[in-house]
Amino acid sequence: MEFFMTIKQILLTGFVLLMSFALLVISASGEYNPDNPERDQDDIGQKIDSLLSIMTLDEKIGQMTLYTSDMDQTGAFLRPEYIDDIKAGRVGSIFNAYGAEYTRYLQEMAVNETRLGIPLLFGYDVIHGHRTIFPVPLGETASWDIDMMRLTAEVAAREAAAEGLHWTFAPMVDIARDARWGRIVEGGGEDAYLVSLMGAAKVEGFQGNSLNDLHTLAACVKHFAAYGAAQAGRDYHSVDMSDRMLREVYLPPFKAAIDAGAVSVMTAFNDLNGIPATSNTYLFQDILRDEWEFDGFVVTDYTAIMELLYHGVASDASHASELALKAGIDISMQDGFYHQTLADLVDDGRVTEAQINQAVANVLRVKFRLGLFDDPYRYSDPEREKAEVMKPENIEIARDMARKSIVLLKNEDQLLPISSSIRNIAVIGPMADNRRDLIGSWSAAGDWTKSVTLLEGLKKRMPDVNFIYAEGTDIDGNSREGFSAAVAAANNADLVILALGEAYWMSGEAASKVDISLPGVQEDLAKELNKTGKPIVAVLMNGRPLTINWLDENIPAILETWFLGTTAGDAIADVLYGDYNPSGKLPVTFPRHVGQIPIFYNMRNTGRPFDADSKYTSKYLDIENEPLYVFGYGLSYTTFEYSPITLSGNELRTDGSIEASITVSNTGGYEGEEVVQLYIHDKVASVARPVRELKGFQKINLMPGESKDVVFTITNDELAFYRADMSFGSEPGKFTVYIGGNSRDTQSAEFVLTE
Ligand code: NOJ
Repeated sequence: MEFFMTIKQILLTGFVLLMSFALLVISASGEYNPDNPERDQDDIGQKIDSLLSIMTLDEKIGQMTLYTSDMDQTGAFLRPEYIDDIKAGRVGSIFNAYGAEYTRYLQEMAVNETRLGIPLLFGYDVIHGHRTIFPVPLGETASWDIDMMRLTAEVAAREAAAEGLHWTFAPMVDIARDARWGRIVEGGGEDAYLVSLMGAAKVEGFQGNSLNDLHTLAACVKHFAAYGAAQAGRDYHSVDMSDRMLREVYLPPFKAAIDAGAVSVMTAFNDLNGIPATSNTYLFQDILRDEWEFDGFVVTDYTAIMELLYHGVASDASHASELALKAGIDISMQDGFYHQTLADLVDDGRVTEAQINQAVANVLRVKFRLGLFDDPYRYSDPEREKAEVMKPENIEIARDMARKSIVLLKNEDQLLPISSSIRNIAVIGPMADNRRDLIGSWSAAGDWTKSVTLLEGLKKRMPDVNFIYAEGTDIDGNSREGFSAAVAAANNADLVILALGEAYWMSGEAASKVDISLPGVQEDLAKELNKTGKPIVAVLMNGRPLTINWLDENIPAILETWFLGTTAGDAIADVLYGDYNPSGKLPVTFPRHVGQIPIFYNMRNTGRPFDADSKYTSKYLDIENEPLYVFGYGLSYTTFEYSPITLSGNELRTDGSIEASITVSNTGGYEGEEVVQLYIHDKVASVARPVRELKGFQKINLMPGESKDVVFTITNDELAFYRADMSFGSEPGKFTVYIGGNSRDTQSAEFVLTE
């Protein structure tokens, strides 16, 4: 025994020496070269092989294990058992740990106290900003400004990477057509084309040109797949959908994010047609790895392997791990199931070491690409942290993004922008001087105490105006006690700004609702104020489409501002006073009634399309089919007119292209931006096609009186779909092109596709 131990120690020392040498060699040649990614990939492949060859099974499983850091009154801490695990090489990554000093302290543990010194990967939910908080993703997508979405991800990455983070659990690209689902706020809305562009831009922003760049983060596209289609909008609920729907609507944003270079993917909590995503071989092996050739790593969502027990597809922890590993899941988040069971599963021959090697290689590849083997502490730099976090440029970018995310829903008689001659303004409502909710859900390390409230923004913008504040009521209480003070404030003013909405926690994870009207007695407050006869501007702050029919019918001006983040109050004041002319367009349909859900613009026509004069057509008895606000809708302080569409030809060959042109004119009195949207409809096909689908858009700026020609090139690519036999391609025949400022009010023209 003693002899064995001595040999073991000698062997171990040999391993360590060998490893130190290996790490030295790896480091010396390890600089990632973005200009030559292929050479670099080969090189990384060799490094991974040499590292795998000296790792024990336990150390390998460690790389497949992710645990959380926690917070208490004294700050961040790691549970003692995780500290032991790190030191024993049984943990490969940590999430919810950030800060240059704290991450360095944890990294030292991994590097100095484990046998092989493999650095930890630090992950975190940097969803819409790290310290500087940008609008919630649904809000940002309303800007339809892809460059800005890329830029805010870049800024978020700079701040987060300066605080020791390597990896963000973003972007979330789950299509959501159900406003009851609280997580609708975390994604880009209902349309596959728009969300694909958003997702790709986010990946590009987070990851930059090279993961090895010190200012970038590895992206994690989530939640694969179809999480947004949870039955009845209830979070975590089952999803049952056709392969056609999956591939046409729910998968394209993931493909786009992966094509943009996303190096990791997170599993969804839901089951898809009975198979939980976390054990879904079809999703992770067949589609992700085989069809899409994804070579990054896959992480579960929080405790999702354990949840296979509750789904009822695994009998115990070992069975759950076996299913997940075989489905292609590389890292278990938080449940520790891989850690507890994989070694025995290998011993029992239920999984192979080759399967484990594959998973570990996927993880190590990203660690190499991040440069962690060159310098494990390169992201944990207190000086850089001080310089990058919430620097003035970041705040400016946040304000710009926030203004661009605002959607003007109504503006009767040009009530907005507010005339600077109005000297007495009542600012009323639970969101009017609200700071806590402005940064929305999943606001990472954002500090809500640093946000600017609407009232503060207004006072800064107009120091000489008398703003009379009254809360009126709280967000979801039933108290009307504040109504009389609010009415008095309105009576003393010439204009009312009424800020209404949801608390930040009412959307996001585990925040589904069956009632999506304004919570509490906020609408009653609006009704009371309306009786004063004063003109009212409603400013909404919320994370999902709301049913606001009464406001739409009675309040002359309505601004949808979502949760705009750190600079919310400044950005709203910019828009209210016309320093910025609103240009946002809804990325999601606003229903009139929760009973219309799911409701989205690109539905199929049915065999009995709506006809008001015919009972037996597709409609409700008690409400119209039309939503309150359609997808793509949003007003400006100016007005735009669209000419008829001109096509460069009426026939398109599958190998050719045609141009659809339209002239857009600014016919109002303000400079303004317009999102010119292109939709296409395939009139006859082997499967019923959506009534129209977004296929392009351009955001243009026009001075008053100015006109611009906007040209879209249409090729076979825009016409392809999953045909009756599920092959992907177009079918010859007639198509309609629609161009306009939203998905309903459009010009149209027709062409024929020929082979
Ligand atoms: C659960 C959420 O579903 C996921 O989006 C998030 O990234 C993880 N928790 C980690 O916080």
